Amino acid sequence: MAALKRVVDSRWLFHRDISRTSASRFFKTSSSCRTVMPAWVIDKYGGNDVLRFTKDARFPIINYPNEVIVKVCAAGLNPIDVSMRGGYGASTMSMKRDPLNLKQKENEFPLILGRDVSGVIMECGLDVKYFRERDEVWAAIPPWKHGSLAEFVVLSANEVSLKPKSLSHAEAAAIPYVATTTWSALVNTGGLTKDNCAKKRVLILGGSGGVGTFAIQMLKAWGAHVTVTCSQNAERFVRGLGADHVVDYTAGPVDVPLAALDKFDLVLDNVGGSTERWALNLLKPWSGAKYVTLVTPFLQNTDALGIADGMMKTAATVASKALKYLVKGVHYRWGFFAPSGPALDEIREMVDAGQIHAVVEETFTFAQVPQAFAKVENGHARGKTVVQIDKWDT
Ligand SMILES: NC(=O)c1ccc[n+]([C@@H]2O[C@H](COP(=O)([O-])OP(=O)(O)OC[C@H]3O[C@@H](n4cnc5c(N)ncnc54)[C@H](OP(=O)(O)O)[C@@H]3O)[C@@H](O)[C@H]2O)c1
Repeated sequence: MAALKRVVDSRWLFHRDISRTSASRFFKTSSSCRTVMPAWVIDKYGGNDVLRFTKDARFPIINYPNEVIVKVCAAGLNPIDVSMRGGYGASTMSMKRDPLNLKQKENEFPLILGRDVSGVIMECGLDVKYFRERDEVWAAIPPWKHGSLAEFVVLSANEVSLKPKSLSHAEAAAIPYVATTTWSALVNTGGLTKDNCAKKRVLILGGSGGVGTFAIQMLKAWGAHVTVTCSQNAERFVRGLGADHVVDYTAGPVDVPLAALDKFDLVLDNVGGSTERWALNLLKPWSGAKYVTLVTPFLQNTDALGIADGMMKTAATVASKALKYLVKGVHYRWGFFAPSGPALDEIREMVDAGQIHAVVEETFTFAQVPQAFAKVENGHARGKTVVQIDKWDT
């Protein structure tokens, strides 16, 4: 049923080329006359000191008939928010926001960060059939859009999903970005599904952070055997989430104990760096086994070389690595976050069935956003950092 209604929502694709002015006839009249809202913004890239609280951030508007405005109850932070605060990905994000570069820097700042949202729909574009005002929803916000460290955010209905009933907003805000990234990496890139995981051996490099804690739970819900690397002091924590085997990466070169284990069907790499030198040797050769890394130089390349040269370099790098490992019988892949309401629909079912729990390490108030950034920047995550924006008052 959900899938059927999502097809109706996807009609927005046919309206994508309409201008803002001509598009206005597709929308309901805004229920709000507000033009400004409270938000944390940045006006330039830098350290934590560039975060600025304002009561006068521009109120989001519906630009396309498939969009919804969500009142933010809780926001989740991810390492990408800290990186974007410092300018990471700026070239690619500017290109996505303004493909023809018509406004140049004009719409880059003030920029609102925050990739996870749990909240309540306040207004729907006219093509939105799957959601109604006052629906409680969750979503992962693409990095080229304004984020959730604000009272309201505008999103495509295709990015949004009904929130799990079993979770509070603060808990729900801990899941969407890491969940849709994990889904994209394991399902879309890695080829795993709930029906083919039962006998698979999966290794997660970096199991104690946001992505790792979600990936362990999803893979265990699908019946995989899960091995995890993490610090010694996180061993009990990841075992509590279901990890079958844990290897302490702080005890010495981690590839040595891993090489003594049976080979794996898939390696999910949340760590990067030197891991590529040995992790592909841990895969079962000539069996379709895949190494999927989330730590890629794609945005560094476009930041350093510009869009065209950066993309050329990226394509050349990934193609040569994929070829190098293909002749050894294993698959080398890069995984990326992909916004997806339908993926969150499936994840909601696992959450409400008790198969996946929110792993909230620390919750901050809206006034404490700089402290929340400092927490994420400090690293050593054990799950997720969440900001409580507002308690929705019915
Ligand atoms: N490509 C994409 O679209 C995409 C999307 C999401 C995330 N990512 C990337 O994926 C990575 C993981 O994201 P995340 O949200 O899970 O980050 P996170 O919440 O900060 O977690 C990172 C975890 O890795 C652990 N760790 C650090 N070094 C390690 C090592 N050598 N071996 C094993 N564990 C180690 C850290 O704990 P200790 O330091 O205490 O060990 C921490 O628990 C980040 O680099 C992020 O940028 C990429």
